[in-house]
Amino acid sequence: MGAARGEFSSRFGFLMAATGSAVGLGNIWGFPTNAASNGGAAFLFTYLVLAFVLAYPALMAELIIGRHARANAVTALRSISRGEKSRLAALLVGFAGIVTVSFILSFYTIVSGWMIAHFFAPIARLLGMQGLAAWLVEDSIVRNGAFVLLFMILTITIISAGVKDGIEKWATRLMPSLILILLLLIGYVLTLPGAMDGLRAYLVPDFSRVTDPALLVDAMGQAFFSLSLGVGTMLIYGSYISSDENLPTVGSLVALLDVGIAVMAGMLILPAMYVALANGVPIYDEAGGLIAGPGLIVSVLPALFSTMGFVGLFVAIAFFALMTIASLTSSISMLEVPVAYGVEHHGVERRKAAIIIGLLITVISLLIVLNFDPLFDMVVTLTTEVSQPLLGFAFCIFVAWIWHRNGILEEIQKGSPEVESGWFWKIWPVYVKYICPPAILLVYFQ
Ligand code: TRP
Repeated sequence: MGAARGEFSSRFGFLMAATGSAVGLGNIWGFPTNAASNGGAAFLFTYLVLAFVLAYPALMAELIIGRHARANAVTALRSISRGEKSRLAALLVGFAGIVTVSFILSFYTIVSGWMIAHFFAPIARLLGMQGLAAWLVEDSIVRNGAFVLLFMILTITIISAGVKDGIEKWATRLMPSLILILLLLIGYVLTLPGAMDGLRAYLVPDFSRVTDPALLVDAMGQAFFSLSLGVGTMLIYGSYISSDENLPTVGSLVALLDVGIAVMAGMLILPAMYVALANGVPIYDEAGGLIAGPGLIVSVLPALFSTMGFVGLFVAIAFFALMTIASLTSSISMLEVPVAYGVEHHGVERRKAAIIIGLLITVISLLIVLNFDPLFDMVVTLTTEVSQPLLGFAFCIFVAWIWHRNGILEEIQKGSPEVESGWFWKIWPVYVKYICPPAILLVYFQ
């Protein structure tokens, strides 16, 4: 094992880092469009229930294991294992998490690169560089590759600086800015014609959809992706929390902030789409559904901004700054997972580990850029729809069926001595043991 481990210096620091991980493209892009195409508030309702009933307990499992072991996912899962078989399973699950999160980062980086390019485009336009602006918003291999590189350099730089001087410092700067920009944008968009139709599409529930299996699967996938679960991200952040910290409380704050920001993002994206419609920008695809995929962010919204004239340039800058911040505070939490493993397990120096692993992931990203059509959707599906729920399931099994109940209790009691008599200890252990694993599998096999 290497030098002393990093630790977050305050509750606020941890909250910003963990919320920064949780709040990403998944919240601002995935959630609103999922809601729009799945019955508006009916999806919102299902999502809220699943987030607190399934995802929050799984988040707690990771935070508790992490803080207990104070180590990367592989070492942590091995430390709570008993016997040869579970130690082997620990190695496999920990490692599968590291590989999964690296592949998630490899596609996430591409989309994040688009966000930075779209952030620079209106700036180029303001500076009168129309040619550059056009290049920035046009899908090309060179542009995509260049922005993958830029985004990965930012991610590697922050992770090289460590937990306190990298992750915590940047998350505490960026997350408050994100919330401020989001509020300003919502305030502005809601004043525009058409916005109220969007709000209605978002907030008026179509409850006939609540029992639709497709909606359940979407909502669970969304909740797991959004809380960064199953791959050891929250485990490693948990391992940097001070022992005095009350885990059930900080865990619920992270879940609340994540869900809250997703819900707020819906109040920006859906009204913006209907404002676009009112301005003559098409928002429905050929099948009659709302445009939800990449087309929404990289074509519908930019088209909307350009109908707004001069103000639109600033709205575009603010919007893509928001997206870039959301991406960056998430991508650092992904890179931290393999880097912590390299540092702790193989004794590599942090900076070196960040650069080597970061470059490897960049290479994978560039391969996806070069073979976008066959690879992109495949990597997204395999990592987020296949691997992530299965690993989330495995984490629940570890904490509930392999680890000693007393070990868990002792860990939580460090920062919250009264936990044994509170609601958390009455509900959570039963949940992760009997409800979460079968529920995850059930939804998975839908
Ligand atoms: N939660 C982030 C989002 O909503 C993405 C993310 C960060 C993530 N770390 C992760 C997703 C680990 C899966 C696994 O965009």
